[in-house]
Amino acid sequence: MPSLPFFLRCLSYLLLAGAACAAPVLQNPTGHPHQNLDGRWQYLIDPYETGYYDYRRKPMDAKGFFEDRKQKDKGELIEYSFDHASTLKVPGDWNSQAENLQYYEGTVWLRRSFTAAPQAGKRYVLYFGAVNYEAHVYLNGRKLGSHQGGFTPFQFDATGLLRAGENSLVVKADNTRHADAIPTVNTDWWNYGGITRDVLLVELPATHISDYKVQLAKGDRNHFEGYVQLAGTELEQKVRLAIPEAGIDTEVRTDPQGRAAVRLPAPKLQLWQPGAPKLYQVTLSTAQDRVEDRIGFRTIETRGKDILLNGKPIFLRGISLHEENPLIAGRLRGESDMRMMLQWARELNANYVRLAHYPHSETMLRLADEMGILVWAEVPVYWTIAWNNPATFALAEEQLATMIGRDQNRAAAIIWSIGNETPVSPERNAFMGKLAGAVRAQDNSRLVAAALEVHRRGNDIVMEDPLADKLDLVSFNEYAGWYWSDPVDMLNYRFTITANKPVVITEFGGDALAGFHADAQTRWSEEYQDLLYKNQLRMLGEIPGLRGMTPWILVDFRSPKRLHPVFQDGWNRKGLISESGKKKQAFHTLKAFYDTMEIRYK
Ligand code: GCU
Repeated sequence: MPSLPFFLRCLSYLLLAGAACAAPVLQNPTGHPHQNLDGRWQYLIDPYETGYYDYRRKPMDAKGFFEDRKQKDKGELIEYSFDHASTLKVPGDWNSQAENLQYYEGTVWLRRSFTAAPQAGKRYVLYFGAVNYEAHVYLNGRKLGSHQGGFTPFQFDATGLLRAGENSLVVKADNTRHADAIPTVNTDWWNYGGITRDVLLVELPATHISDYKVQLAKGDRNHFEGYVQLAGTELEQKVRLAIPEAGIDTEVRTDPQGRAAVRLPAPKLQLWQPGAPKLYQVTLSTAQDRVEDRIGFRTIETRGKDILLNGKPIFLRGISLHEENPLIAGRLRGESDMRMMLQWARELNANYVRLAHYPHSETMLRLADEMGILVWAEVPVYWTIAWNNPATFALAEEQLATMIGRDQNRAAAIIWSIGNETPVSPERNAFMGKLAGAVRAQDNSRLVAAALEVHRRGNDIVMEDPLADKLDLVSFNEYAGWYWSDPVDMLNYRFTITANKPVVITEFGGDALAGFHADAQTRWSEEYQDLLYKNQLRMLGEIPGLRGMTPWILVDFRSPKRLHPVFQDGWNRKGLISESGKKKQAFHTLKAFYDTMEIRYK
């Protein structure tokens, strides 16, 4: 985890954000013995937060729905009951699971009963992959803690409260939007609420391997670089690192803080790359603990206008996507949903995806590792947020640190993005500049970027965002042919990019209702979208430093901002695939372009 000791960072979040943030997040929780608590959870919809506040609107610490009380005698008054409640599937957003929750924003209580057999001397951690947006977590009627942020994992130590036998786990999940939150109140995606990723009860020895990073050093294929972090009581220990296939079997010694740096020579490795995503078995072990992982080794860097993967120039043939399964429509629920999305990207002959606009699940990153698909990962510092609010900055910084920490061993993850379409201003520049610095302090082995904006000077499209100086790529969104100009007139414009850096287009595109056919001047038609793509690719092809793109977007997605009853009906239709999985004309245009780029960069 980041250089600033966690507790100090956590203190700052507590003071600034008022969010009692959870313990440092365990690296690779499923690499440890664990009980999966997914499944059907009882739920209570609580728009007035009656289970949390008293009638004077004071938080009730001693009593509330978290107690999960059951009526013992006929005279007892209890005005809720999880035992009699309906259920929701976890992981899963609530909006796609119940008609009356489709547009619901507010509090829902979720309860899971489970049996456990805690062992003496073991520690037990409750790990949540993600809960949108604010979660208050209770075990057997006692509060474990709370967390803000809908797309990053968090955990609580449950050791003292876990019982042998029946346990009651209650989560108050609240997806109410707030102006000073990350993301803020205005987004072009559906505000899916609930426990959207796995819930695990992880069993750990008294001193365990809480975190590690084993990667190649920046731009250096001859050295492994990283660290191991222990947590618990005996922090000074020997840790064995083994990568059998690479002939690595060595030991490092942790310091009084439980940390040991890893720096050792790397033999000639089969480097991870699209088309050959080699993953090595890596084992870390101590006298008490052992964790296994599958890790790919590659280097990623820039040189002038080139992006170098393992020292060779590459073109990022990409596509943007949301963490949404259009066929539901709801949050991706598990590996098969995610594989479907990446398979669609594959059919485009893509070797790269932009996971927009928030950290997607760890499973998605591990799948990209396995399938050999490069990843742009991003935190939801999206559009106009509360730049002057220190608590908002603390939330952004925490989400960024947690995203990087969780996926730092994924070869697929090559770019950390600090935000999307944030308006230039001194406050914003300072805010974003600090985030860029935080990324470099935590992980200097990858590229730092953001989806910036361009503007027009006559027929020139120019990038004049001062933040670009702090980033490794010139990456921006542009909607020529849709939000301005049209698919023909757009050819009168040209990009004027002066920076000697790789140019990666993070978004371009236009809406088309699948199956609606007309001439190419008719908005919403597949022909309009297709011509737009054809001419976008011509325009962009003129940019000398063009080294990648992620058009907006792989598949149509739900948005509360898209309200044209015929052409949108609550969907953003910029997908190249419709919500029923039908490929639109432009899909084939982009694929053909990627086929030529694959050959050119072979
Ligand atoms: C923006 C934004 C996306 C949005 C897209 C659109 O650039 O980054 O989140 O969905 O444009 O307007 O369709």
